[in-house]
Formats: sequence, structure tokens, C-alpha cells
Amino acid sequence: IHPTLSKASRLIREVPDFPEPGVLFRDISPLLADGEALSTVVTALGEGHEFDVVAGVEARGFLVGAAVAQAYGTGVVGLRKPGKLPEVADRIDYALEYGTASLELAADTISAGQRVLVVDDVLATGGTLNAACELLGRAGAKVSAAAVVLELTALGGRDRVLGADVHALLAV
Ligand code: PRP
Ligand code: HPA
Repeated sequence: IHPTLSKASRLIREVPDFPEPGVLFRDISPLLADGEALSTVVTALGEGHEFDVVAGVEARGFLVGAAVAQAYGTGVVGLRKPGKLPEVADRIDYALEYGTASLELAADTISAGQRVLVVDDVLATGGTLNAACELLGRAGAKVSAAAVVLELTALGGRDRVLGADVHALLAV
């Protein structure tokens, strides 16, 4: 762990039994609320990658994704949960541990050949990031990497993300 990230890591809260009994939830809200920690994290998320645009995953990926885009002078595209976008270029349905979820890409956002940095807050089972990478790949994008603030390593999600290298700033 990079020394400037250690303060950020101390701002992640552990919340037992959320969203259901037996789950230890890691809440990065206090980290995002701290200017110095946010700045460190945002810079580190973009570091070492070449990208033309950032894609952030709804909803917490919007917060970090937009900040990374601003810091590196690119645009940002939100990958959205269904029913929010007036014009959808493409949609992907994917399996969760229980049930399914979907992400949609807005029309006229990604063009073929663009290098996209996918950003989210937390990597858990990896289903969301894998779907995000597949959706962008279908649009003709070249996914530079998938960058997350926190990886929950026990869930093995990294191995499920097939479309891109995963870069996690912090891991538990
Ligand atoms: C969380 C998190 C990631 C995803 C990770 O989002 O922000 O996007 O789950 O889980 P996975 O690796 O098992 O797919 P959530 O769906 O809770 O939505 P939110 O950001 O709107 O709170
Ligand atoms: N924290 C934040 N997001 C998550 C978690 C968690 O522990 N598990 C799945 N998504």
C-alpha cells in the first residue's frame, strides 16, 4: 500500500450486518468526504493508464469516475441502471449472487477505438465490473483497465473480470 493511501484506508468504515445479517460492509463514504483522501485516491485511480474517457458505474462509481475524469481532463460516461436513460445504445444483463442486474450505455457517448478507463468504488464478486467491460467492448471501446478504490479479495471478483486488468488501490 502506497503511504499516502494509508490515511484513506483508515477512513473506510466496517459496518456489520449490512445490507443483511452476516455481511461485513465496507463503507467508503467517510473517505470520499475527506478532501485530501479523495484527491489522493482520484489521482491514483488514473495513474499508469492511457485513456480518452472515463466510465463510472452507477451510483458510487459516478462520484469517483467524474472526479478522475476532471483530474485527467477527459469526459465521463455513466453506466446506468435500467430505466434512467432516454436513448440507450446498448444494455447488458448479468447474474448476481441472487437475481440479476443490468447496465445501460447512453447513445452517442462511446465511439469505436476510444480508450476507456472503467472506475468503480468497490470490487466485490466482480459481476458488475465484468459487465461494464463487456458493454464497453461491444461499443467498440478498448478498455484500458478497471480501476477501483477497494477490492474485497475474499470474494475472488478479480478473476471474474475478463475484459480488463483490475487495478485496486486498497484491498481487504
Ligand atoms: C456496489 C458497488 C459496485 C458493485 C460491486 O454497487 O458500488 O458497483 O456493487 O459488486 P460486485 O463486484 O459483486 O458486482 P451497488 O449495486 O450496491 O449500487 P450503488 O453504487 O448504486 O450503491
Ligand atoms: N462495500 C461496498 N460495496 C459493496 C460491498 C461492501 O462491502 N459489498 C458489495 N458491494
